[in-house]
Parts: sequence; structure tokens; C-alpha cells
Amino acid sequence: MGFRKDFLWGGATAANQCEGGYDQGGRGLANVDVVPIGKDRFPIISGKMKHFDFDDEHFYPAKGAIDMYHRYKEDIALFGEMGFKTYRLSIAWSRIFPKGDESEPNEEGLAFYEDLFKECHKHGIEPLVTITHFDCPMHLVETYGAWRSRKLIGFYENLCRVLFNRYKGLVKYWLTFNEINMILHAPFMGAGLYFEEGDNEEQIKYQAAHHELVASAIATKIAHEVDPENQVGCMLAAGNYYPYTSNPEDYFAAVQKDRENYFFIDVQSRGAYPSYALKEMERKGIELEIADGDLELLKEHTVDFISFSYYSSRTVSTDPEMNKKVAGNIFASLKNPYLKASEWGWQIDPLGLRSTMNQLYDRYQKPLFIVENGLGAVDTPDENGYVADDYRIDYLRDHIKAMKDAVEIDGVDLMGYTSWGCIDLVSASTGEMKKRYGFIYVDRDNDGNGTLKRSKKKSFDWYKKVIASNGEDL
Ligand code: BG6
Repeated sequence: MGFRKDFLWGGATAANQCEGGYDQGGRGLANVDVVPIGKDRFPIISGKMKHFDFDDEHFYPAKGAIDMYHRYKEDIALFGEMGFKTYRLSIAWSRIFPKGDESEPNEEGLAFYEDLFKECHKHGIEPLVTITHFDCPMHLVETYGAWRSRKLIGFYENLCRVLFNRYKGLVKYWLTFNEINMILHAPFMGAGLYFEEGDNEEQIKYQAAHHELVASAIATKIAHEVDPENQVGCMLAAGNYYPYTSNPEDYFAAVQKDRENYFFIDVQSRGAYPSYALKEMERKGIELEIADGDLELLKEHTVDFISFSYYSSRTVSTDPEMNKKVAGNIFASLKNPYLKASEWGWQIDPLGLRSTMNQLYDRYQKPLFIVENGLGAVDTPDENGYVADDYRIDYLRDHIKAMKDAVEIDGVDLMGYTSWGCIDLVSASTGEMKKRYGFIYVDRDNDGNGTLKRSKKKSFDWYKKVIASNGEDL
């Protein structure tokens, strides 16, 4: 009973949300760097507003983030103290290939991650590496239109070859694309896509998704060739949809909304475009350009495990009156009257995690890995700088209990759990520092002020105890 003996407990971050040092070590500019905090953020992340460089009017939080580029040893030591078995982080593509289309990688970038991985192993931590967590070198965005171009497959393949060869023996768990379905919801932030007047946005998004899916299959192929020990996962922004009422129309709307997301994983895990997606594309007039050999690659190189993020369930209705109330900053959802929400309106639903796990396991029959989950909240340190974040402990406890039920009662095979933003970092959706997820507080505010000092919150000791007891002592 309980979790696997080798259960991978840990935490997760992404390069652009924590590293900073955006112009150091030979790193090139990336799409995720040029997104400011404030009212212009949403038009930019959704690809509606072209914004290719910095200006004096805005603050760009990814430039400095929490300066993990210089402080990773201190941060990894703290993860080690909590007993992390794994640390999920992402590679900044533009540290390895600053422009993206060079033939030779940037040694300084490679050496940075090599040292970071060695540091993890020193603390008994197995790295879990996301190859791209939303980032794309700006040169590829400007020159090729990012993933709308098929050429990106080749550039991504070069990146993967370099990573798998260089880090053989240091890294064995890889994720190809973070939240691959984000391309539909935040195409610039998620894949460097932006739209000009007259563009057929749906066509561009699905073609770009096809390129990513083929690139993901090629990455899986190379990972297995370079080292049979490598295990490759897909990554979905998950959270199943509920029908707002028992009206069959609402139920079917929920089925369709779920499929909008599962579509990606159906290809990555089952190896083919699902029939409902082909029909949907036909109806929308989307014609995918599929090159010779693409479908074989998708079929032959499916992922080893299914990873996903889960923050919230979602609710859908077919009633036009209800739909006037749809909210949410990236994934639109109705307010579910049975659920409480976070300060950012993300609805809190631990049982939804168990439902999502069951749906994913039923559908794919491959091990699952929860690689993001957590509560974004405002933390207020007391006069000694201590944060008593009981609300975060409550959220995590309830979600871990639900995932335990999925394992013990429903028999889901779960490899691990990495809570999101184990150290406070920049929010992906809003760019705020104020939206904190960490066990470790970082002294920095929305405007970039603060000492960057790290301090343990109450949840730090709680999570340490959870890991030490393999999830028994909650
Ligand atoms: C996921 C992303 O969508 O959610 C992370 O993979 C992100 O990058 C996380 O940070 C939480 O979202 P936010 O907007 O609160 O940072």
C-alpha cells in the first residue's frame, strides 16, 4: 500500500521564471524574456500584440527573476535539506543555442547545467528536465515565425542531440514540451507564435502543434538511442471539465473541452491523430501539412510516461447566459458553486485531481507523473521574516491525500510528485512575484525590489516530513 518505494518527491521550476541572468553566459534572448508585467501582458502572451524587445515603459520580470543563475547551489542545498528525490527544472534553449539555428552549441550554457546537475546529485537529487518550458529563442521567432515553421523541428532536434549526449549519466528523466496544449491558449508565451492581420490563427496553431508533436517524437527516439535508460514524458496542462448541469448538452460540451487538451497526449502516447480531432480539423478547414515519415515517427516513438500539471478543475456550460460569466486568465472556466477559489480565482478541487488521474490512467495505461501542483498565494512575513503558510499546507495536504486515494483505492501507477514553484518565482500568467507557491520565501517584489534572500516558510518543514514518511505523515 502507499506510494512506490522509489516515489520521486520533489519540486519544480522553469528557467525563465527563476534563473534571471538573461544576457549572461552567452545566453540569447527568448520569447519569454520580452513579456512584461502589467496590462500589456495578456495581449502579448496570446500572440495578439507583437512585442519583440524591451522598452522603457515596462518592467520585464524574467530578466532577473530570482537570480537562480547565480544562487543555484544555495537553492539546491535547501531542496536537499527538504529531502527532495527529484528536482524538475527546465533548460533555457537560448543558453545552449543563443540564436537557435547555430550548428555549434554555447559551451558556457552547457557547462552551467552540467554543474547544476552535478550539484543535484551531490544532494541525492535526480534531475527531471523539461527541454522547453515555453521558451523559444527570439531569433527563431523573428526569422522563422517560431513553431509555425517546419525548420524548428530540425533546430529542436539539434538541441536534443546535444543535451542527451552531454548529460548522459547525469539526467534520465526528460519532458519534451511543457504544457504542450498551452499553444492553443497562450501561443506566444507557449510557443513563440504571434499573429498578423489576416492570419488564419487556428491553422497556424495546429500546424505549429504538428511540428511540436513530430519534434517530440524525434526527441523520444534520440533519447532512447543515446541511452536506453532515458525515460521521456509528455506534459499536459490538465484539469478535467465538469458539465455545469446534468443537461446532456453540458455533459457533451465537457467531453469536447477535455478532448481539446487530450488531443496532444493522444498523439504523444497513442501514436496517432485521434479520429475526433481529424474530423474537427476537417470541419474547421484546417489542413495540416504532414511530411513523409511524420506519421511513422509519431507512431513508433511514443512517450514512456504521462506527466501533467494540475491546479484546478474547470466547468463548462452551453447556456449563453452562463457563458457571460466565464472567467480565468488562461484557461476559461465558469465558477463552480461547489468550490472555493484561490486569491487569483483558481478553483480549489482536490477530488478533481483524483478524477483527472483516473481519466488519464484509464485512457493511456502508462505511469503518471504529477509535475506541477500548488497554491499561488500572497505571503506576508511576520516581523522576523517568517511565513506561516498554513493555507498552502492545507492545499497541498488535500491534494496529496487525493492522489494517494488515486493510487491506493483506484490503482493508478504514479511515479512521482513535484510541487510547482518549490521556491518562490515569477508567475507565468501574470508576471507577478506576489503570486507565490514556494516552501522557500524569496525577498523580491513585483517591481524587482528586495534582497533576494531565501528563507524557509512553515511549509518547508511540513513537506520535509511528508517526504521522509513517503506521504504517510501529512
Ligand atoms: C503552469 C506553468 O501553467 O502553471 C508554469 O507550467 C506556471 O510555468 C504555473 O508558473 C503556475 O501558473 P502561474 O501563472 O501562477 O505562474
